[in-house]
Amino acid sequence: MTARTTQNSLVNLLPTRVSDDNGLAQDVMQGLSQSPKKLSSRFFYDAKGSQLFQQIMELPEYYLTKLEHQILSRQRKEILYAIDTQNPFQLVDLGAGDAYKTKLLLSELVASKADFSYVPLDISEDQLNLLLEDMHHRWPHLEVQALAAEYFQGLEWLNQNRRQRKVVLFLGSNIGNFDLPEAQNFLCALRQTLNPEDSFLLGLDLKKDPEKIRRAYDDAAGVTSAFNLNLLHRINKELQGDFDLDQFQHFAEYDPLEGTMRSFLVSRQAQEVHIGALKQTFRFEAWEAIHTENSYKFTLRQVEEMAGSCGFTIQEVFTDKTFGFADVLLRPV
Ligand SMILES: C[S@@+](CC[C@H](N)C(=O)[O-])C[C@H]1O[C@@H](n2cnc3c(N)ncnc32)[C@H](O)[C@@H]1O
Repeated sequence: MTARTTQNSLVNLLPTRVSDDNGLAQDVMQGLSQSPKKLSSRFFYDAKGSQLFQQIMELPEYYLTKLEHQILSRQRKEILYAIDTQNPFQLVDLGAGDAYKTKLLLSELVASKADFSYVPLDISEDQLNLLLEDMHHRWPHLEVQALAAEYFQGLEWLNQNRRQRKVVLFLGSNIGNFDLPEAQNFLCALRQTLNPEDSFLLGLDLKKDPEKIRRAYDDAAGVTSAFNLNLLHRINKELQGDFDLDQFQHFAEYDPLEGTMRSFLVSRQAQEVHIGALKQTFRFEAWEAIHTENSYKFTLRQVEEMAGSCGFTIQEVFTDKTFGFADVLLRPV
C-alpha cells in the first residue's frame, strides 16, 4: 500500500506473483497455446495503451464516449437525485480508467457538498496513479481510495466492506468486454455484494447501425489498430517476446445477430514467435488470428432480463437523444 496523502491512497489487491506481471504471463501462455488463439483485452491498458485509448475516445468514429458523456453531462442532476446523495456513501468506479465521465458526477457531488468518498478500481496501476494525482489536484479534500484490482477482486472488496452504503459505477460499456454468460455471472456476483439501499449505474452500448459500430473499432486514422497491436508490443517489453508488429494486422468485425463486435490480430504470414519469459515458442499459420476483444452491444430488454434474473430491478434508464447508449440505474430487490 502506497500512502500518498492522508486523503488519497492506493491499495494493491492484484495477486503478487514471482514474475510480478499481474497475470500477463499466464494469460499469454494459455491464450497462445489454445486454438483459436486468444489474448485478454484487460491487458490493453499499460501506459502506452491508456494513452492510445485517450486518443480513441476523441476519434470521430468512436461514438461511445461522446454519447455517454452527453448523458452524464445533461442528466447528472436527475441521475444523482435518483441515487439519493443526501446520505453518506462510497462511490465505487469499476474500471475507472481516467474517470473522464465520472468527473462529471464528481464535480456535481463536490459542489453539492455530498458526504461521500471515491473508490476508483482499475487493473492498471499506472492509470490509477495518474488518476490519484489528478484527483488530488482537482479536489484536494475529496477522500480517494484507489484499488488496483481485477473486477472480481473488486467484488470481494465490496463484500468485505458492506457497512457503508455503496453507489457502484460500471461505465463505458465495460461490461460488453465479457461474453454474455460472463456478463450474467458478473451481474449476479455483484448483486450478492450489495445491500438493498445500494445503487448500481451500468453504462451500456446499445444495438444500432452495424456499420457505425464496426467503424468505431476500425477507425480511418488507424489508432484502434495501434491500440490492438500495442498488446504485442507489451508482451515484447514485459515478457521478452519477439513479435514483429509489421507481420500482424488489426481486423474488426461486427456480428449483428449476436450483437458482438470482435477484434483480432491476424498473422500476415506463417511465423514463429519466441517469448523469453515463458521459454516458449509459438507457431502461427499464415492468416491465423488471435482473438483480442469482444464488445457486446445490448438491447434494453436484454438488460432488464439479465439484471432481473440476478435480483436487480431497473429504477431508471438514461439515454442519449439517439438511443445509442444507456446508463441504467439498477437497485437490488
Ligand atoms: C474502456 S476503459 C473505460 C474507462 C472509463 N470507465 C470510461 O467509461 O471511460 C476500461 C478500463 O477498465 C480497465 N479494465 C479492463 N479490464 C479490467 C479488469 N478485468 N479488471 C479491472 N479493470 C479492468 C482498464 O484498465 C481501463 O482503464
